[in-house]
Amino acid sequence: MTNEDDMLVTPWEVKGTIDYDRLIEEFGTERIDEKLRKKIEKIAGESHILLDRELFFSHRDLDWVMKEYEKGNKFILYTGRGPSGDVHIGHLVPWMFTKWMQDCFKVPLYFQLTNDEKFWFDQDMTYEQVHELTRDNALDVIATGFDPEKTFILDDIKHIDLMYELAVKVAKKVTFSTARAVFGFENSMNIGGIFYPSMQAVPAFLHSWIHERKTPCIIPCAIDQDPYWRITRDVAEKLGYYKPASIQNKFVPGLQEGGKMSSSDPMSAIYTTDSPKKAKKKVLAAFTGGRTTAKEQRELGANPEICSVFKYYTFIFMPDDKELADIRMKCVSGDILCGACKQILVPRMMEFLEKHQAAREEAKERLHEFSADKLRNLVRK
Ligand code: TRP
Repeated sequence: MTNEDDMLVTPWEVKGTIDYDRLIEEFGTERIDEKLRKKIEKIAGESHILLDRELFFSHRDLDWVMKEYEKGNKFILYTGRGPSGDVHIGHLVPWMFTKWMQDCFKVPLYFQLTNDEKFWFDQDMTYEQVHELTRDNALDVIATGFDPEKTFILDDIKHIDLMYELAVKVAKKVTFSTARAVFGFENSMNIGGIFYPSMQAVPAFLHSWIHERKTPCIIPCAIDQDPYWRITRDVAEKLGYYKPASIQNKFVPGLQEGGKMSSSDPMSAIYTTDSPKKAKKKVLAAFTGGRTTAKEQRELGANPEICSVFKYYTFIFMPDDKELADIRMKCVSGDILCGACKQILVPRMMEFLEKHQAAREEAKERLHEFSADKLRNLVRK
């Protein structure tokens, strides 16, 4: 998908200025309106800033799943990550929301680590690298705080025995011409990548398959994953399952100008393995909406709409609405300069990282508790 401004959103590439209204229209998803937000909050028993502040802004069939839940028909959650590098804060934000959903609704979570995808799609990635990153990224998933009793981390390669029956069934229902139209596959691609969308469909049905009972599914994900769900939803009913619903987030911005927090620009991303000192340096070097000189800024104020620091306040580090409104006012009025504003973010970022890193250390002993290995004794022989 492209326009004059070169907006491009595919599962592999995101660039340009993102127009989220246009994405909703062109992907054919729905906006999360006030009514749906209120409904989720009512059932969850509390609100969440990522809903209030519209990081999660779009969905498919979420209203239907909420209705089913009220009738006593519980859903499962499914999300995932392609282990292509170190995890950064931008990845953790939607996972934190997924954890909130798991806690409020007390439902299972299937978390897919797609080492096959990254091996097939990234020419430079060796098998050993994806293997190592799968284990390493799982530590960040666990450190997010999911419930071990209700969380199943699927490693595509290791757990292929749990997933292959469904993948085979999905693959038979998807023609090459459909996949090519949806994903823009080219002749030069390896054939692994062409099969891969069937693997990403599997966790949406896995619970229903194991428990032999059709179960609704909600997929929290970034909007760029939507093409996968179009395929998944297409085949769902043909295989005797519900179409999975989704709740979709905007891209978490990087610390540099424009774009999302990206692994390819190390200064734009704060990795979960960065030392707090290094994170501090990155925050202090971050792109803001400030003016060229202090004098000008005091007179004219700055622009929080384009400021990466302000986005970080909005999405994690300033949950208090009053505090956020206050800093916004000081920013636009020129009462606070960017350096001073960053000094508020620095200790919060450092504390967050320290906590996450401690949890990440502990996770090393707990990998087995979260592994989908434990599904094996439930599966029909
Ligand atoms: N394709 C995703 C990525 O590259 C990984 C993924 C698999 C995923 N299943 C998912 C992401 C479900 C969100 C929801 O990162």
